[in-house]
Amino acid sequence: MAIIANSALLGGLLILAAAPHLVQSLESAGMSGSGSMRRNRGRPHHYALFTEKSPCAIMERRYVSSPLEQKWLQAAAKWKENGNGDLGDIGPYCTLLTETKEEIQRMLALIDALMNSTTSLSDAPDADAVLSYFHTIMQCGPYRFTQKEHIESLVAALRHPFSIKCPEGTFSQLPPLTNIFEKSYVLLASWAGPVQATKNKYYLDAGAGIGYRANANQHWMLETYEARGIKMDRALYWEAQSAQGPALLDGVPPDMFPAFAFYNIPAPENLTDGRNPLNVMAKIAKPGDFVSIKLDIDQPGIEDGWLRAILGNDSAAAGAFKSRYAQLIDELFWEHHFNFMPMRSCCWQGLVDANSHLVDSMKLFIKLRELGIRSHYWQ
Ligand SMILES: *[C@@H]1O[C@H](CO)[C@@H](O)[C@H](O)[C@H]1NC(C)=O
Ligand SMILES: *[C@@H]1O[C@H](CO)[C@@H](O)[C@H](O)[C@H]1NC(C)=O
Ligand SMILES: *[C@@H]1O[C@H](CO)[C@@H](O)[C@H](O)[C@H]1NC(C)=O
Repeated sequence: MAIIANSALLGGLLILAAAPHLVQSLESAGMSGSGSMRRNRGRPHHYALFTEKSPCAIMERRYVSSPLEQKWLQAAAKWKENGNGDLGDIGPYCTLLTETKEEIQRMLALIDALMNSTTSLSDAPDADAVLSYFHTIMQCGPYRFTQKEHIESLVAALRHPFSIKCPEGTFSQLPPLTNIFEKSYVLLASWAGPVQATKNKYYLDAGAGIGYRANANQHWMLETYEARGIKMDRALYWEAQSAQGPALLDGVPPDMFPAFAFYNIPAPENLTDGRNPLNVMAKIAKPGDFVSIKLDIDQPGIEDGWLRAILGNDSAAAGAFKSRYAQLIDELFWEHHFNFMPMRSCCWQGLVDANSHLVDSMKLFIKLRELGIRSHYWQ
């Protein structure tokens, strides 16, 4: 998990940047070196705050689920109780979507603004009502301070909330239908610090598709991370569908090339296989590196096993135990093929995890977040 080491001096400044009250008191004592840091509204992700000489330790990383998310979670639990877990009757779903439309639109507007910046923390007074967040307590040398970062609430079908078509009655009350691949609901990690230091940033992608430009999980991911201050050192892609070498690399910008590697093989299921993405991650990433991983091989059975390995035993949810994977992963994307009629009828057909309904899927993503992982639904 996330650390980027800086020089001791810079690390010190970054710590000040993240602790405004500290900046205040030291500045009034005649230390003014941090002025520019304050101006850029720098709210570095916690990995910016570590230094080689005085590493920070994460004492606590807590996930706080927003009221908007809780409303959806409770409704989804009730739908399942009532025998409508797969939303074969989409009515109640669309009614709730209409009822929460304004909150969801507010969430999307805040995400839009944050995604145009290099921070994940909104200072809007109503932000915590519509966005979930992580609350992290760190100890850096003698200083203890807290760090907060927002993440999108898990609502609706866990992709773009307005991408599933509702029937006539509610359809007209909702915003225009978005494309099923619309990504403007995702609030990615960011880093607002001035320097990318010595720790590595990795992206691993199982089920990458063929073609850099044709696949958002290739170009969008790398470019969006870079715009948010996280330029990947390595981006590793797995894809089972075979292609000619040049087709795999077509469109990869020269400046991305040094980071880019493509494995044109099926990602092996077995976690002990040296070619398995989680195994590769565990071999190359060190605690403190930034690791983002996307699982989308359209094989619910295999992905389920990988997710279980990341989640570890149930005690993990209580924070008592973290799997070796959860210790390394900062951000995770997963297209969970849960048993959800609107997606089955258009797209997934029989390719679903039959026992998982919307509420189960939401709980899984929440559990990942409770392990400190920024988990996002992927399309
Ligand atoms: C964010 O950037 C997009 C694309 O440049 C733009 O359309 C949008 O208005 C911006 N949003 C905000 C809140 O600045
Ligand atoms: C994974 O591979 C190892 C080593 O080849 C083997 O012992 C193990 O049984 C395999 N596990 C599964 C679930 O297939
Ligand atoms: C989970 O717990 C069981 C029994 O307590 C143990 O055998 C197993 O290795 C644990 N799994 C993980 C991933 O730690």
